[in-house]
Amino acid sequence: MRTIVTGSSGLLGRHVAAALAAAGHDVLGIDAVAPGTVPWRHATADLTDLGSALQLVRDCDAVVHVAAIPRPTGRAGGEVFKTNVATAYNVVEAATMAGARRFVYASSFSVFGYPFFEKTVRPPYLPVDMNHPVGAQDPYALSKWLGEEIVDAAVRRGAFSAVSLRMPWIQTPETFFAGVGPRRATADSARDLWSYLDARDAGQGFLRALQWRGAGHLRVLLSAADTFMEEETEPLVRRVYPDVPLSRPIAGHGAVLDTNHARETIGFEPSHSWRSYPQPESGK
Ligand SMILES: NC(=O)c1ccc[n+]([C@@H]2O[C@H](COP(=O)([O-])OP(=O)(O)OC[C@H]3O[C@@H](n4cnc5c(N)ncnc54)[C@H](O)[C@@H]3O)[C@@H](O)[C@H]2O)c1
Repeated sequence: MRTIVTGSSGLLGRHVAAALAAAGHDVLGIDAVAPGTVPWRHATADLTDLGSALQLVRDCDAVVHVAAIPRPTGRAGGEVFKTNVATAYNVVEAATMAGARRFVYASSFSVFGYPFFEKTVRPPYLPVDMNHPVGAQDPYALSKWLGEEIVDAAVRRGAFSAVSLRMPWIQTPETFFAGVGPRRATADSARDLWSYLDARDAGQGFLRALQWRGAGHLRVLLSAADTFMEEETEPLVRRVYPDVPLSRPIAGHGAVLDTNHARETIGFEPSHSWRSYPQPESGK
């Protein structure tokens, strides 16, 4: 399958492009940044430019749209919003004109409102599943939600079938201890619903999403099978959300994001946990 992956030089996009190339996809990566030596073809472009998107997203069976600014912090909110919505619109438009039959969109559990909310979002029940109301508050979450809606509009007009993957914090053995480690000790870890997803499992999720043979626009929630916390999940939930009901027991360190729907629809099964990441050497 000839597959275009945008954002293929970034943290997630590299893992997605690598997983697809390893599975036999003929991958063209498009990113504003060159990736160095990688086992896929690459084109450098700013996808906020519609002309560049139309010229490069061609001769493909599928498009995987990963490129975005992945958080609302450290930049003007307007730049995050403009970049993410413009790239989503341009890539969807270009995929439509190229006649791509499948589209996969890197969405985020931020569409529920976590983790960047200003007014606290409380889950109606736990584990969180796809029935959780959408509730974006910040420019990033809003851009990811509008990205899903841009995809939905294309599906509605018959352009292609699509899968949007709502993901929590993406981690690798190299990022976990420096990124998640300090946050675990703070109350802010609840903003993440203590959730993460190994980038290799995310790559498999994208591969599975491309294999989905359904019609329409499927939106699914991905997560690691566990939380990023040392504490077991039920006591953690009881302590932080004493009034939020559990819809089912959560054994051990089980995740607070429910991936049953992802398993049933696209066959997603996470297989990596931070608990087997090598501990960084002290003093480094
Ligand atoms: N990092 C996370 O925790 C997380 C969680 C859920 C969803 N996501 C989503 O996953 C995707 C990738 O996130 P990431 O963490 O790999 O981010 P990243 O910053 O590591 O990678 C994003 C890539 O997109 C490229 N890009 C940005 N704007 C572009 C433009 N205008 N034209 C072309 N390329 C452009 C960047 O150069 C970069 O290589 C994003 O869509 C993000 O919203 C990320």
